[in-house]
Amino acid sequence: MNIFSPRFISDKEFDDNFPKEIERLSGKHWAPATIAKRAAKFLVNRPGIKVLDIGSGAGKFCIIGAACSDGFFTGVEQRQNLCEVAATIAQHYHVSNVKFVHANVMDIDFSQYDAFFFYNAFYENIEGGNAIDKSVDLDPELYQRYTLILTEKLSKMPAGTRLVTYWGEWMPEGYELVYTNGNDSLRFWERRE
Ligand SMILES: C[S@@+](CC[C@H](N)C(=O)[O-])C[C@H]1O[C@@H](n2cnc3c(N)ncnc32)[C@H](O)[C@@H]1O
Repeated sequence: MNIFSPRFISDKEFDDNFPKEIERLSGKHWAPATIAKRAAKFLVNRPGIKVLDIGSGAGKFCIIGAACSDGFFTGVEQRQNLCEVAATIAQHYHVSNVKFVHANVMDIDFSQYDAFFFYNAFYENIEGGNAIDKSVDLDPELYQRYTLILTEKLSKMPAGTRLVTYWGEWMPEGYELVYTNGNDSLRFWERRE
């Protein structure tokens, strides 16, 4: 099965691979297929670029991004079951330039990566009604702490580092906004300092 054949995969086709309880989260929590493709095209500006998805969920951004580019995608995700689902779907589509790591992104060494995708991953800490499930501790204090540490980690990356943010008001320090879509949900950034 191929994500591009006979035409680019729709959200419904991709989401049909998920177990029901994960599929129902898609509209709110997993990147739409067209967003994943556009973000990947910006992030992978040369072959072999190593892209980190900060909070990769069920793998939708990473798998679609990897399938439509020649970058290498790593998703880090705090929920083990989501990592397992993601790996199964990557295998199903024979997408090999992707892997999933079960970890807290706070423990990840960003210097091992060239480019980053961030879909408002910490938001469920401040909006309980938006939680994926009850398997991890959610706390507004974590939102503050994670956001601060993420800002610090990204501020240590070299000039030219690319970042895509999807939803959320957070803005990275030292990055120039190079593109935003109509409703400001999708933003492309490049480190200038
Ligand atoms: C909005 S979803 C985005 C999923 C994926 N990036 C996509 O676009 O399809 C955010 C994910 O980040 C994960 N997450 C939140 N905080 C995390 C942390 N500190 N470390 C690892 N994963 C985290 C959540 O469990 C959730 O699956």
